[in-house]
Amino acid sequence: MNLSGKHVLVGITASIAAYKSATLVRLLVKSGAHVKVVMTPDSLHFIGALTLATLSKNPVYSQYFDSTTGEWSNHVELGKWADVFVIAPATSNTISKMAHGQCDNLLLATYLSSDCPVFIAPAMDLDMFQHPAFRNNLKLLKSFGNYIINSTSGELASGLSGEGRMEEPEEIIKQLEAFKLDGTLTGKKILITAGPTYEAIDPVRFIGNHSSGKMGYALAKEAKNLGAEVILISGPVSIPSPEGIHVIHVKSADEMYDAVFKHQASYDIAILSAAVADYKPAQVAEQKIKKADNEHHLDLIKNKDILRSLGLVKKEGQFLVGFALETQNELENALVKLTEKNLDLIVLNSLNDSGAGFGGDTNLVKLITPDNIIDELPLQSKTEVAKQIIAKINQLIH
Ligand code: PMT
Repeated sequence: MNLSGKHVLVGITASIAAYKSATLVRLLVKSGAHVKVVMTPDSLHFIGALTLATLSKNPVYSQYFDSTTGEWSNHVELGKWADVFVIAPATSNTISKMAHGQCDNLLLATYLSSDCPVFIAPAMDLDMFQHPAFRNNLKLLKSFGNYIINSTSGELASGLSGEGRMEEPEEIIKQLEAFKLDGTLTGKKILITAGPTYEAIDPVRFIGNHSSGKMGYALAKEAKNLGAEVILISGPVSIPSPEGIHVIHVKSADEMYDAVFKHQASYDIAILSAAVADYKPAQVAEQKIKKADNEHHLDLIKNKDILRSLGLVKKEGQFLVGFALETQNELENALVKLTEKNLDLIVLNSLNDSGAGFGGDTNLVKLITPDNIIDELPLQSKTEVAKQIIAKINQLIH
């Protein structure tokens, strides 16, 4: 896994090895990861939150409720934020609680809420390490799909020598880098459109819309995280191009159509989230149109419908996803688009729902398949919406 840009949550429990967590956090930040730290209350006896907050450049979480600020730490949000959760050091006590679903602190509740890969680096004394109770708990955690970063042998805090030392931070980083994130889309080519189109009226004016590109860019990032080759065709937006993704910048619907059709024969999955103008001026004035009469009439002609055109020539094995942005009769209109455009999935968002649609960081969508199965997702960040759209596609293609 390339750590750059990844959201890495570091969990720290009450072991003397917690001093190594500072180096781990520093190395993660150095490799370009966004790092947050969640600690058990007892681990604060071993290392200060200030050290970790300074190194991670983020507040450190150790309790549900901060009585000084009145702030509530949302373990679900923290768990969902993480692309990867590394619990280092992990004590026998925490490992036991994780294995049995206990959640009497924020770290444990976050573990139970996370749906990302979880790495556990045990640290404890030799006898605890060899105890069958601990060995069984570790086995249980492995069976849940967690990854164990094996402890090493050497001198222990007790003065004994043997197994139970937490792995060195440099080695943990190597193991994270060597890990392949869920590669369920590895080998797939995914075409995504995002943002608005601008239809020129004259050299200074255009017909456009409020799309920011956030929804499409979030989809592109998620598809890349799952190992896909992503081609992102983007209308004019002011958000940065995601790292490691081939972005083709276009302005008008015609340019977007041409860029999409260059990849029409070779895509496996196409997700068209762009807000493409349905009409464009019949003539583009060569010079700026001068103010003259009280009224100015603009003749508009229809743009090509990119999604419909892809649907018409969809090949066996290609999976086509469209969006529907509606303001009335939402479900009916979306179902018509799903059928008429020969789609495998449509994502419906309505401008009647607050927090949905253009510009903001959240969206509220329904995922609808041709057999009329409707998944109503809650209002959530566009990143989370993208994760769930891609997960749905993954479920449908496998
Ligand atoms: O970019 P954001 O600010 O994050 O906002 C996200 C969004 C609101 C733009 C996005 O969630 C969304 O709804 N995108 C589709 C917007 C739209 O134009 O919907 P539509 O119902 O008019 O179009 C239906 C589908 O046909 C869409 O997949 C659209 O990309 C496609 N289309 C439309 C017209 C056209 N000429 N060619 C197309 O491919």
